[in-house]
Amino acid sequence: MSGNLATVSYIGATILFILSLGGLSNPESSRRGNLYGMIGMTIAVLATVFGPRVTMAGIPWIIGAMVVGASVGLYAARTVQMTQMPELVALMHSLVGLAAMLVGFANYIDPAASSGLTDAEKHIHEIEIYVGILIGAVTFSGSIIAFGKLSGKIGGNPLLLPARHWLNLAGLLVVIYFGREFLHAAPGEGMTPLYVMTVIALLFGIHMVMAIGGADMPVVVSMLNSYSGWAAAATGFMLSNDLLIVTGALVGSSGAILSYIMCQAMNRNFISVIAGGFGTTSGATPVAGVQPAGEVVPISATETAELLGESKSVIIVPGYGMAVAQAQHTVYEITKYLREKGVNVRFGIHPVAGRMPGHMNVLLAEAKVPYDIVFEMDELNDDFPQTDVAIVIGANDIVNPGAQDDPNSPIAGMPVLEVWKAKTSIVMKRSMASGYAGVDNPLFYKENNRMLFGDAKKMLDEVLVALKAA
Ligand code: TAP
Repeated sequence: MSGNLATVSYIGATILFILSLGGLSNPESSRRGNLYGMIGMTIAVLATVFGPRVTMAGIPWIIGAMVVGASVGLYAARTVQMTQMPELVALMHSLVGLAAMLVGFANYIDPAASSGLTDAEKHIHEIEIYVGILIGAVTFSGSIIAFGKLSGKIGGNPLLLPARHWLNLAGLLVVIYFGREFLHAAPGEGMTPLYVMTVIALLFGIHMVMAIGGADMPVVVSMLNSYSGWAAAATGFMLSNDLLIVTGALVGSSGAILSYIMCQAMNRNFISVIAGGFGTTSGATPVAGVQPAGEVVPISATETAELLGESKSVIIVPGYGMAVAQAQHTVYEITKYLREKGVNVRFGIHPVAGRMPGHMNVLLAEAKVPYDIVFEMDELNDDFPQTDVAIVIGANDIVNPGAQDDPNSPIAGMPVLEVWKAKTSIVMKRSMASGYAGVDNPLFYKENNRMLFGDAKKMLDEVLVALKAA
């Protein structure tokens, strides 16, 4: 493939990636957005592999690597559960970071990469290598810890080292000092500064994510998404690959915008997030397995069906438990039934419900719930006082009134869906266990709240049978 054709293909792929992001901003156009992304990536890979910068001798290596990568990817896609997607995404971010690190070291070792460069160009090339490895290492270790936290392999409680901000600052100063050493090192002698910086960056990544409290993980996940984009862009600079620079910048900036939106949704400070170790200065440390505080009133599936059948207006709030139970199809059956009987049924979606951005929207779309009855939290929160029944399906933190009433709560300040303002709220879950943030939920003990204990899918099946029998 000629250089010109490769450039044109890169421009085409870039446009498709931008169209893909545009499509993904709306559930109705998201399938089309995904398709654009897939076509763009196919063009990008073909134009790179058959482009002028890859020699024939390199092709078998690339094909070998692609066969191994594709097999692992296919296996993961087939076996990973929907509820494990956030962990998988975190793991994938770590691979982007690892790739940026390895490309950086390879670039420094390879004499061909800097041959023929002027002094100024050589310095710029070295800065690219240093910064690329730095971002790659932070992304790599941070994502591995995020994977551990999301999969429950590492506890959700924040690790608060004494003087942690000073530690971070000291690390930054050392990185800057060794950056200077690296730029002034004789040819081939910059390895020591690179190693020192890599170790510090890896430790910083670990420290940054370990310091995050459970409920604040969504912001970290989107932030690491952003970092992985910048790591890819840095790799693009090192390899002089324009498409990788543009794609990395698209991922980096869209991830940063998502982090910002997430911060607003969680009422957290964006700058403290970027600095790392946020969400831990206000409020108490979340305690796993906190003791229940008060009496709860259980309700049966039949009674739930009666309440729903008598209602004029119902709001359904889905959470992580709906994903675990795979209850979305039964939720839709119940919704369809109630709507046919003239009940106004709507869904309230919290921005961090579940374990990844848009988690609930994906599940509801899969179950074919019409988009026009699915609302964001802000669009619906004022309507609870006029609602007969608010039914909470496997959600916990996102409906916790403590976020508003208790300034000492680890989730204090996080906006929540005010289900307790409905005439009756019903919470479906299996036990009195706490949610991801590890805090007790005062909603369960409110006078107008009822608890429907059991697996969400099983209980909803029973509710549906009772509704149809009535
Ligand atoms: P959670 O607060 O985690 O609560 C989920 C509840 O579902 C649990 O209390 C659990 O109680 C119940 N549950 C689990 N399996 C169930 C089943 N089979 N049937 C019925 N109930 C079941 O979830 P949420 O309200 O959706 O809030 C999300 C939390 O995750 C927030 O703290 C958020 O910060 C965090 N988080 C979100 C993201 C993103 S981006 N969305 C990423 C990382 C972390 P039982 O065990 O008693 O059944």
